[in-house]
Amino acid sequence: MRPPVDVRAQSEQPTLTTERLTLRPFIADDAFDVERLAGMREIADTTLNIPHPYPHGGAAEWILTHGPAWNEGSNATFAIVDNATHRLAGAISLMIKPEHRRAELGYWIALNCWNRGYATEASQRLIDFGFEVLGLHRIEARHFVRNRASGRVMQKLGMQHEGIERDWAIKWDRFETLAVYSILEPEWRPARAGR
Ligand SMILES: CC(C)(COP(=O)(O)OP(=O)(O)OC[C@H]1O[C@@H](n2cnc3c(N)ncnc32)[C@H](O)[C@@H]1OP(=O)(O)O)[C@@H](O)C(=O)NCCC(=O)NCCS
Repeated sequence: MRPPVDVRAQSEQPTLTTERLTLRPFIADDAFDVERLAGMREIADTTLNIPHPYPHGGAAEWILTHGPAWNEGSNATFAIVDNATHRLAGAISLMIKPEHRRAELGYWIALNCWNRGYATEASQRLIDFGFEVLGLHRIEARHFVRNRASGRVMQKLGMQHEGIERDWAIKWDRFETLAVYSILEPEWRPARAGR
């Protein structure tokens, strides 16, 4: 059995690449774009932790939390940058529970980049990183059941639908039922080899 995940052993948070995207640590200069893009109602509508309206200065504060969270091994958050335009196209993260070798995947994609496969491409890269480099055993993800696009992303990633959590959260004064998906390292490995 591998030892528990310790992202501190990685020292610096790496930059990951895919055919169309770069996943890199956020920098202070991204704050304006985060507020502009994540500040859109469509992004906040189907996420639990993105405020709306996005408070001015909130993104700078959020970005400042990334370094310490990476260093303590609790979170790996990446900016998704479009290789063609060098523009911010979204954000993606693994919220890590090292003692259980599991993490929860979360993401948002800028509205003008939806339905190009970016969430799937970025997530696949981060899942590979989570299993190959961080030594995770399980990666899970949740979506509001009404957020069918996110459910489709999870299916395209080869994650298994585990069930639903009824009225699990309140968003804008309404209960939301969540769908739970996961993939385990032994399920991911043969799929990775076949890619
Ligand atoms: C969910 C989200 C990340 C998807 O990003 P994306 O880059 O557009 O996703 P992809 O292009 O990789 O895949 C989207 C899939 O959903 C499908 N889809 C889009 N809208 C859909 C809908 N209303 N119903 C069913 N499927 C839908 C697309 O056709 C595509 O599937 P396909 O490749 O089989 O055609 C993006 O919509 C988003 O950021 N939403 C707001 C924030 C959010 O909900 N984050 C996730 C929280 S769990």
